Amino acid sequence: MAGRIPQSFIDDLLARINIIDVLDGRVQKLKRAGKNYSGLCPFHKEKTPSFSANQEKQFYYCFGCGAGGNAISFLMEYENLNFPEAVEELAKAAGMEVPKDDNPQQREKEQQLKKLYDLLAEAAQFYEDQLKGHNTRQDAVTYLQTRGLTGQAAKAFSIGFAPSGWDNILKHLSKSDTDQKLLEEAGLLIHNEDRDSHYDRFRNRIMFPIRDQRGRTIGFGGRVLGDDKPKYLNSPETPTFHKSRELYGLYEARKHSNKLERLIIVEGYMDVVGLAQFGIHYAVATLGTATTAQHLERLFKLVPEVIFCFDGDNAGREAAMRALKTTLPVIEDGKEARFLLLPDGEDPDSLVRQEGTLAFTERLDSALPLSEFFFNSHSEQADLNSMDGRARFSTEVLPAINSMKPSLLQQMMLDRICELTNLSLEQIQTTVNFHESVQTHTPAPAVVSEYDYSEAPSYEESQPYNYADYSSEDHSFEGHGYENTQFKSGKKQHHRPRSNSSELSFEQKLIALLLHYPQLASEYQFPEALKSDTDANSQLLAQLVAYYKQNPTASLGQLVVDWREDETLSQTIVELYEISTSLEITSEEVARAYLQDAQHGLSLKALEQEISLLQKKHSLSKEEKIKLVQSMQQLNQLKTTSKT
Ligand code: UTP
Ligand code: MN
Repeated sequence: MAGRIPQSFIDDLLARINIIDVLDGRVQKLKRAGKNYSGLCPFHKEKTPSFSANQEKQFYYCFGCGAGGNAISFLMEYENLNFPEAVEELAKAAGMEVPKDDNPQQREKEQQLKKLYDLLAEAAQFYEDQLKGHNTRQDAVTYLQTRGLTGQAAKAFSIGFAPSGWDNILKHLSKSDTDQKLLEEAGLLIHNEDRDSHYDRFRNRIMFPIRDQRGRTIGFGGRVLGDDKPKYLNSPETPTFHKSRELYGLYEARKHSNKLERLIIVEGYMDVVGLAQFGIHYAVATLGTATTAQHLERLFKLVPEVIFCFDGDNAGREAAMRALKTTLPVIEDGKEARFLLLPDGEDPDSLVRQEGTLAFTERLDSALPLSEFFFNSHSEQADLNSMDGRARFSTEVLPAINSMKPSLLQQMMLDRICELTNLSLEQIQTTVNFHESVQTHTPAPAVVSEYDYSEAPSYEESQPYNYADYSSEDHSFEGHGYENTQFKSGKKQHHRPRSNSSELSFEQKLIALLLHYPQLASEYQFPEALKSDTDANSQLLAQLVAYYKQNPTASLGQLVVDWREDETLSQTIVELYEISTSLEITSEEVARAYLQDAQHGLSLKALEQEISLLQKKHSLSKEEKIKLVQSMQQLNQLKTTSKT
């Protein structure tokens, strides 16, 4: 976990900002209603407002889903940020600087990162300057002009140019060897091992700065002016740049409008820029990688609708199938994914230039809903008239549908397979099981492998060019295989990669567990000795147990609202809840087992504390001596039971 931000700062910050400003633009139909504000809850789908916020108390609460908290927890949930990130974001808006942590390691890490951001910003400025003023590179400008790019569009995306030569950035930005190391870490220089020297990574390329959601430059994509290979060169993975998470154009899209209704995922930088030039300011591109679940989760936090828009070539079709596979496990009711395949040989940039904004928007409006695209692409070549064809079709389709979260959409799609095959779900399941047991013994017939995504070449492999900077970490689709052919139970799985549950203490884990399963509080006996423990987490745990014993059905939102007087407490709660979604507590049974274990551990700890306290005393009363002996016996007993 990142180091703690001083409470005094958080208090200050919360006093300085107004939660209503934070909600504005993020909560739809936000309206004042007497003392309160009301609006459509962004955390669950609803048509009538049940989200309310109170300016005086600086709190929000949703009567529909129980979400509740302050400006920080709102940002955390809405923007998918962790606690320090949300504080940072709010501080920025308020023009305040978050005080540096007093943990030297953490501080150094942050300083190092800051240096990288600064260098990247300077580099972006340098590249951009090459297109402007007295040192304009005419060849680059001419190139952009022949591509029909206006100066305005170039400016909106801060497009620049990296001149040819091996040491432009090197000379411009480094004064020492340490600087060169940093520039290498920022992905701007490449280290030549043999000569132990550095040179510019980007040479003679049009430069597209990639920005994070706060607008900081975190990496670059660079395009050659001619036909050299690779056509695009991207920054490598660096401490600031993570391809599987970032999307080109997202910052610009959000900057353009804070009320985005949908986002389009396209393949290329030029597509994003070209579309924006034609007034379609809501396109984003992955960075030379396939779309990942992380990308999608991020976008679906922002908008209810995502449209995949891929080139009309083979690679584009494969990319669409891959995107489909990645989307299935992510999609939830209330969110919509649609698919648009462009005519062969066209990409969004070329098409919007050809046919204009209106025609392109019409295409977007008629993009296929996920389920339709799914069934079209799977049934195209299936022979649904023969039993064998139907079995093969089901074997393809059922595991894919089973990879989805339980939802109306899933149910609808299950109904649809039954309709298409004229079989009941049980019949299909049996067929699939049978088919699979046969398949493991005989090689699959050719027609099946055509449907089989897992056999398809990756997006990168299917491209005609060489991805010089391709990194295998980008294969997010692994792990989203359709291997699970059993019907899934109604469990929701949250992917929270930044979670750090392994760093949680015993007490913190117990707190997290109770937040998820409050009903277990009544089964919990708080060890006597720990009641006087001054550790903040022990106290919080005790408080929480007491609270849930009184309010066994309270939701997290209710709890946060009830504890709103103590902001540290409610923040800690929200933070722990957030982190703990990655604890492997998947059911009440597991939780109960864990609780018993933890209780055992805590009893041990309590006894040990008691014993050590008594042992430190100089003289013991008779009662104390008895107590000591008893405690030691108990401790021994407990230890033996934990061994068995
Ligand atoms: P495309 O080859 O479709 O290029 O690559 P494009 O976007 O149409 O570019 P222009 O119009 O020729 O300039 C799509 C995306 O794939 C990644 C880049 O992100 C690019 O925008 N790519 C492509 C690479 O990372 N490396 C390459 O060598 C090529
Ligand atoms: Mn193109």
